[in-house]
Amino acid sequence: MSDSESIAAGYAFTGPALDLGALLWEGACLPDAQIRIPLPMLNRHGLVAGATGTGKTKTLQLIAEQLSAQGVPVFLADVKGDVSGISAPGVTNDKVAGRAAEVKQQWTATGFPAEFYALGGIGHGIPVRATITGFGPVLLSKVLQLNQTQEQSLGLIFHYADTKGLELIDLKDLRAVVTFLTSDEGKTELKNIGGLSTATAGVILRSLTAFEAQGMADFFGEPDFDTSELLRTASDGRGMVSVLELPAVQDKPQLFSTFLMWMLADLFHDLPEVGDAEKPKLVFFFDEAHLLFNDASKAFLDSITQTVRLIRSKGVGVFFVTQTPKDVPGDVLAQLGNRVQHALRAFTPDDQKALKATVKTFPNSSYDLEEILTGLGTGEAVVTVLSENGAPTPVAVTRLRAPESLMGPIDAATLDAAVKSSSLYGRYAQAVDRESAYEKLTTAAREPQETPKAASKSSPKSAKEDESMVQQVVGSGMFKSLARSVGTQIGREITRSLFGTARRKR
Ligand SMILES: Nc1ncnc2c1ncn2[C@@H]1O[C@H](COP(=O)(O)OP(=O)(O)O)[C@@H](O)[C@H]1O
Ligand SMILES: [Mg+2]
Repeated sequence: MSDSESIAAGYAFTGPALDLGALLWEGACLPDAQIRIPLPMLNRHGLVAGATGTGKTKTLQLIAEQLSAQGVPVFLADVKGDVSGISAPGVTNDKVAGRAAEVKQQWTATGFPAEFYALGGIGHGIPVRATITGFGPVLLSKVLQLNQTQEQSLGLIFHYADTKGLELIDLKDLRAVVTFLTSDEGKTELKNIGGLSTATAGVILRSLTAFEAQGMADFFGEPDFDTSELLRTASDGRGMVSVLELPAVQDKPQLFSTFLMWMLADLFHDLPEVGDAEKPKLVFFFDEAHLLFNDASKAFLDSITQTVRLIRSKGVGVFFVTQTPKDVPGDVLAQLGNRVQHALRAFTPDDQKALKATVKTFPNSSYDLEEILTGLGTGEAVVTVLSENGAPTPVAVTRLRAPESLMGPIDAATLDAAVKSSSLYGRYAQAVDRESAYEKLTTAAREPQETPKAASKSSPKSAKEDESMVQQVVGSGMFKSLARSVGTQIGREITRSLFGTARRKR
């Protein structure tokens, strides 16, 4: 067998697989050497990397299309606003036709069933909100950019609110609780919490105020988004493509990247274990993933690692899309079984370093990957995936297929029409503000003799405890002790698990 034949043999799967493209060998495409990913391996996660303009988003699009066609729902974070076109048939031209012919693709213009979401309803999409309590202290600390001490203190504040039945729905609820704890009436309560200083509570209060002033209040509240919406299929059996439109919040990377993590953590809560299934329940694409890892705390990184590790057996695949593998922490990278590496630049010493590091993350091959990675054309990539038995496939330089849906955005009017006509729009369009911590505490303040009324009430959100999972997933010491105390008062408190996010009442 020649080298190219043995590479091709490594991709000759017997079951259903997604077609990525054809092997590029000595400058030409070998149309009979198809490079593919076995469908059951899509829950083994992946990485799509490469410099700007090398074809990452199109790769994501063509994988998403084929997943939908196979009945697998897909979630896409559309950071630059160039993914909405997945809902409309593509337009062919000489380039597309030429590429299709080279890689032996029967190109048919096809649009896919899509739902568009927007964080807090800012931009074009069905509003996605989270309650503060659902979001939890670790993720909130990430968006508030709190340090470790402050993060732990915020955890204690959440724990206090949980215990007292003070519901944290929106930002003003949390602000009211912290204000109360730093006030004269709240002093003893603060002391009783232990480990929370007035000074730190003051810092948290100020950062909450600043955060609200940046217009962040819209993202938190009810109706909160039910992440099981992402698991739907269309009436024709194709997987729904859920596109989170992010261009309007592009200037808030901490916020949107953390929200994406919340969605994953929330999915994790609710999904049952399925082990290794025939096909995934959902594949989640995390575009601009470096934003997630930048300035992340140890607790946060640990939680990401745990999520990625454990969510696989719940049938969810996660694909990170970023410039270089260096953007992804080693513990996470090690779990990304499917790799599509587009071209890298090698202009600066930093580029050189990233290039060398990238090469090291690939299995051994006869290729000179340093040279190949700097010479790849647009829509070409170095690929290795997991074969049907879970072993890495041979490294294959690949010319990728062309997406069959529209490359680029659909126009704003079409997007808005799709949003307004969605069956989900009515459920999420209007924010509601019911009685919660803020209202309870402001009432209590008007009746000065009393501490918060809520203190005597039992928690409105009782959740069934899944203690073993909590123990398993909760990495940081703080959450170990939190989980323990929750475990001793089953039914009275909110269950916090991964990231300290809470289960919601459905
Ligand atoms: N698989 C592909 N098929 C056809 N054209 C492609 C493909 N990949 C990339 N291109 C072309 O290259 C351009 C840049 O690709 P894009 O995916 O937006 O890059 P990135 O996300 O890495 O910045 C696209 O607009 C498209 O014209
Ligand atoms: Mg892109």
